[in-house]
Amino acid sequence: MTKMKNEIKNICCIGAGYVGGPTMSVIADKCPNLKINVVDKNSKRIELWNSLDLELLPIYEPGLDKIIERCRGKNLLFSTEIKENISSADMIFISVNTPTKTKGIGAGQASDLKWVEACAREVAMFATGHTIVVEKSTLPVKTAEVIKTILKNSKANSNQTFEVLSNPEFLAEGSAISDLEDPDRVLIGGESEDAIMALSNIYRNWVPTDKILHTNIWSSELSKLTANAFLAQRISSINSISALCESTGADVREVSRAIGLDSRIGSRFLNSGPGFGGSCFKKDILNLVYLSKFFGLQEVANFWEAVVKLNNWHQHRLSKLITQKLFGTISGKKICILGFAFKANTNDTRESAAIAICKDLLEEGAFLCINDPKVNKDQIELDLKSKSINSINYSEKTDFFNLEGEWSFEEDIYKAADNADAILILTEWNNYLDINWNRISKKMRKPSWIFDARSILNPKEIIENDLHLWRIGDGYNSN
Ligand code: NAD
Ligand code: UGA
Repeated sequence: MTKMKNEIKNICCIGAGYVGGPTMSVIADKCPNLKINVVDKNSKRIELWNSLDLELLPIYEPGLDKIIERCRGKNLLFSTEIKENISSADMIFISVNTPTKTKGIGAGQASDLKWVEACAREVAMFATGHTIVVEKSTLPVKTAEVIKTILKNSKANSNQTFEVLSNPEFLAEGSAISDLEDPDRVLIGGESEDAIMALSNIYRNWVPTDKILHTNIWSSELSKLTANAFLAQRISSINSISALCESTGADVREVSRAIGLDSRIGSRFLNSGPGFGGSCFKKDILNLVYLSKFFGLQEVANFWEAVVKLNNWHQHRLSKLITQKLFGTISGKKICILGFAFKANTNDTRESAAIAICKDLLEEGAFLCINDPKVNKDQIELDLKSKSINSINYSEKTDFFNLEGEWSFEEDIYKAADNADAILILTEWNNYLDINWNRISKKMRKPSWIFDARSILNPKEIIENDLHLWRIGDGYNSN
């Protein structure tokens, strides 16, 4: 079939991950006339996207299963047929992973673009006719230049032409579907007005035109890094204040409320917690740090680096504090961990504060009993065994654990609490709001401590049940 320039019928998305999967599902749902092929080289992941049992989808996002049920097999297809789907696509989204480099120049800070480059080469090799290539992955400023250069030098066939656009994704995990269905804005950066309009027209099926922003390509790439840096900076700011609250008798919830009512500050993203996690905040800030240094802006680099340093410090502060409260030693003591995902409503554990905190507690000799409603035991095992990289100074920590006997997984919260000295809440899952603390108290060893790093519990209920409570940012903690 001949392809008409900028007329979009077939879309191919390379990368069926946390962004590619939900984003393409929503586009398919809102645009029944488009055919969308989501491709990935990971055949296991594709198999899961195609599983009949929707509980087995590789990504847990509220509302995603319903869309998959409506669209999959109709205008939304998941496969490993990368070559064929690139070839028939009018528009290709690159939605692959861009983690921090672990080796070579820029290790520990710069993004590793090898997967993006591989995609560009595959597109150059297999695309036919006119193709709009959209950067959906979060990329350092000027990556579009690399993609363009690879595409321009393609000798695969003479009828190829390309346009490259930047269209960063702002969804947050756990609320991906509502974020995609009702975005604050859609950002499209590019040079070709026709290509920009072709992509805008897709979004206009459900996003009001005034929410679709057009910028130059570099502003678009930089805006994505900046948005994440600003959001993460707010969390480090409030977490720094929570430490001060604990020392002074102030309450971080009251401080957040008081400052959040200032319309210039706003109330969102002011919840103090165990430190930000997720696959992107740290990686994107470090990327910004690397770019700033590259352009000789050391003070700018230092400013943003401090946001990550504070986050690391804050996570380790919590594990130290738990040890101190439990009479200075946790060796052989049982600590029940409630929540391993980096936030509620996702099964994602990448950079979860739980990883750093649990590793610290294991290092001190504790026995951990871990519960999470969506993260499975195998994933936790992988995370706890992983070699962690201190991405600020880039020194590898040699902390491989001999895990036997040091931790276990338990689906039943009450069994997990059996004979425990402490319970630590690390993820704000809704089901932790319904815990029967009277029942828990009877099961725990005395004196029993509850550490609420997400501030989700009713302090009165905990204290009435003969339990000691520590809450993040609470000036009464010292009692
Ligand atoms: P992910 O790791 O979940 O998914 C990436 C997928 O790409 C993997 O399944 C991998 O197998 C596949 N892949 C890599 N190279 C490939 C190739 N050459 N051909 C075919 N498949 C290939 O990553 P993600 O969380 O979806 O993130 C993707 C990008 O989106 C990143 O740049 C990230 O910064 C950005 N982002 C992520 C989020 C989020 O919430 N996770 C939000 C906004 C932006
Ligand atoms: C974040 C951004 O919110 C998205 O806009 C962006 O698209 C995405 O990163 C990305 O580029 O990957 P996400 O990491 O999925 O989304 O989730 P957030 O809701 O931002 O939470 C990140 C971390 O901050 C979590 O660990 C969360 O618990 C923590 N957090 C968030 C707090 O500790 N306090 C808050 O008030 C808010």
